Amino acid sequence: MTSTPKKTLTLKQKPRTTDGTVTERQRSGARARQAQQMQRLREDATPSPEAAAPKAERSRPKPKLAAQPKKAPSGYASPSSKPARPPAPKRHHIEGPKIQAKFSAQRSDEFVIFAPCPLGLEEALATELIALGFAQVSQGRAGCHFMADWQGVLRANLYSRLATRILVQMSFAKIQNEDELYELAYQTPWENWFGAEQTLRVDTSAIRSPFQSLQYANLRVKDAICDRLRDREGARPDIDTVRPDAKVHVFLNEDSATLYIDSSGESLFKRGWRYDKGEAPLRENLASGLLALADWDPNSPLIDPFCGSGTILIEAAWIALGAPPGIWRPFHFERLRHHDARAWQDLKAEAHANISTTIEVPLIGSDLNPAAIQAARSNMARAHLPADTIRFEVCNALDIQPVAAQGWIVTNPPYGERLDDTDTEFWSDWAAHLKRNFSGWSVNVITSDLEIPSKLRLKPNRRFPLYNGPLDCRLFNFQMVAASNR
Ligand SMILES: C[S@@+](CC[C@H](N)C(=O)[O-])C[C@H]1O[C@@H](n2cnc3c(N)ncnc32)[C@H](O)[C@@H]1O
Repeated sequence: MTSTPKKTLTLKQKPRTTDGTVTERQRSGARARQAQQMQRLREDATPSPEAAAPKAERSRPKPKLAAQPKKAPSGYASPSSKPARPPAPKRHHIEGPKIQAKFSAQRSDEFVIFAPCPLGLEEALATELIALGFAQVSQGRAGCHFMADWQGVLRANLYSRLATRILVQMSFAKIQNEDELYELAYQTPWENWFGAEQTLRVDTSAIRSPFQSLQYANLRVKDAICDRLRDREGARPDIDTVRPDAKVHVFLNEDSATLYIDSSGESLFKRGWRYDKGEAPLRENLASGLLALADWDPNSPLIDPFCGSGTILIEAAWIALGAPPGIWRPFHFERLRHHDARAWQDLKAEAHANISTTIEVPLIGSDLNPAAIQAARSNMARAHLPADTIRFEVCNALDIQPVAAQGWIVTNPPYGERLDDTDTEFWSDWAAHLKRNFSGWSVNVITSDLEIPSKLRLKPNRRFPLYNGPLDCRLFNFQMVAASNR
């Protein structure tokens, strides 16, 4: 492989970064209440919706609840209702508040946000959110909490490379049963965000919830939202589970419920450019997370010798150009009531203006499979990157050559279980190649094969536990040094 000629470029500053410090703000009134609630949430160690237990765990036998309704409460349309019964009263929510609910559902509010992310990227996400200027950032499991106003919600969607979605907390309460969950959902002023003109989808996740059925909990919330909108505005929204306008996320734990509006819609790792998937592609936010954990300097060369469909390099190119990950995709907040299209256009115009047009640093991807390289090139074009931004070529990882004295390899090789018994030999050959040719380079390998360091006979400098979908992985960092220094 020959070295890549440098292209001209000025890297622009990343948008709206701070000096990395979090300043505690003095708050009063609603903001003070929000801050206290945020604090309480942390103290309660509220687990994240995305870290919710798998179904099997959720459905394990639960302690019997005294007030568990066996049938829908009065006022519910029930298939078993006898025709002779008096018609159900129009307003059938529980009279008088039985729960102490907290709301933040005015556009002028400061919201508690939960941004889920792949497990293992929490710290990197917190660093990113602080750099974007968000306040009260705290790490949870598989995500981070922070505070933001509605404009901040838009900014987080546009700029976060690591979050999977931006969930905006609408209400929270300690609850004991499905009736109280219904009441919480009924009390929440959804009409500030959507009405019968929008279609709706409700999803529920839980950790250690005592409820017998998450499906029933989900149904109660859906009914409560529709009942509230019908009572206030005369019509119920239609349910659309495939392409809804408004998505509500319910998170339940042992004793509380949190109701969120999903402001993102499709997961944020869908940047809008992927068409050719290649073999086992990484999610885009995980790829960005690898670059963050590897501490890649966007002014230094980057090689992915097992590049597949090019995810790591395309993410790297967008980072180097200062292109926000959400600049080319739609979001659910655009479909909600009172969406300020003008403010959103202004935010995007500002982001566009900060995107550099050329990249100086060599970005190189290679793969043994010509179809993968074809897919990577197509993806690069769809990612609005000129053809010379990343050099993609068919090459065996055993033949790849460095393009500078120092740089980064960040890569996602084929996993151990997909290779046959010859893989130990392959890894020892690859290690010999790296030792011979890449001294001075930082080599970062994400793999579910935890034996990789011993197969490479290299001692990792650092290892980061990560999940690639369901696969328990590590990102191993090896600093290659000249043989005489080893
Ligand atoms: C797990 S996939 C990489 C997926 C990639 N990160 C993405 O997001 O699309 C591993 C890739 O390694 C490639 N590969 C396998 N053996 C190779 C070798 N000896 N040299 C170069 N590439 C190889 C496969 O063709 C496959 O595309």
